[in-house]
Amino acid sequence: MKKLFFLGIITFFAACSVKLATPIQADVDRVSTKYPGYSLADLNEGKSLFEHNCNRCHHLKNPASRSEDKWEKIVPKMMAKLNKKEGHPVLTDKEQESILRYLITMRTASKSGT
Ligand code: HEC
Repeated sequence: MKKLFFLGIITFFAACSVKLATPIQADVDRVSTKYPGYSLADLNEGKSLFEHNCNRCHHLKNPASRSEDKWEKIVPKMMAKLNKKEGHPVLTDKEQESILRYLITMRTASKSGT
């Protein structure tokens, strides 16, 4: 009985969270012309910023769920919402750009979640 209960909880959380693909060098290579000098560390930093800031009001959205053009419009819009909620700028322009680059890079990752 106890086992079933825990299984239920695990299933519940699994269904609520986006399974984000782990960035690999191949992801960085794919955007090397677009973002010269971009590194795996930069990509991971963007992932971390995304995970810590983009779930403050709703669950994390899958990077693959929107087009590049859409993300370019959505990220500044969401950051404006966040700044308004907090009453001051929360992320720097660089951090905002980092989230955007992460989303655009990982939206075409082969192993993206649902
Ligand atoms: C301050 C609260 C807040 C934060 C922080 C926030 N969002 Fe949102 N987000 C909303 C609200 C409210 C909506 C629904 C209304 C709308 O679409 O404007 C939404 C909707 C969305 C949508 C669907 C809208 C569409 O046009 O497709 C996406 C995608 C999204 N958010 C992504 C993000 C990302 C990426 C981040 C981090 C950069 C983020 N959100 C951070 C409040 C927030």
